[in-house]
Amino acid sequence: MMKIVFFVFLLTGSLMLLGCDVPDAEQVQQRQHLPDSDFVADPQRGDVLFHAHCALCHGDKGVGTDQGPPLVHPVYRPGHHADLTFHWAVKDGVKQHHWHFGDMPPVSGVSPQQAGHIIAYVRREQRKAGIR
Ligand code: HEC
Repeated sequence: MMKIVFFVFLLTGSLMLLGCDVPDAEQVQQRQHLPDSDFVADPQRGDVLFHAHCALCHGDKGVGTDQGPPLVHPVYRPGHHADLTFHWAVKDGVKQHHWHFGDMPPVSGVSPQQAGHIIAYVRREQRKAGIR
């Protein structure tokens, strides 16, 4: 009996500790892999970053390769894959689900800000292709 009481005590104690650890907005954004709220995305920089980190699989200008799908594709239009899904893809990778290229591994060395530039670039290429 005492053991159970002690366990409940420990459990509520740790839950209270967790509850007190309220992260501030900046920590949340880092965890979610999001840039700061005053961030301004630059598609020109995104162009360079995309070709350095993503084009190996997603192809020159995002048209796809035999390693990965095109991102300039209606499946990835903003209404179907919001910017957040891009940030999460970079941070956590992607389990194969839409295509048959296998999983996307997490991409290390791309900051939330750099991902923001890349997204601006992909969105610009999508708009050029009439995908919106
Ligand atoms: C090693 C190959 C590879 C690299 C490098 C790569 N990807 Fe991917 N990516 C994939 C594959 C494969 C998929 C498709 C998974 C599926 O849906 O079947 C994918 C899917 C995605 C998706 C869709 C996510 C979803 O929720 O369905 C996004 C967004 C994406 N990639 C963005 C990027 C960005 C941005 C970069 C560069 C920073 C990048 N990828 C680099 C292989 C890659």
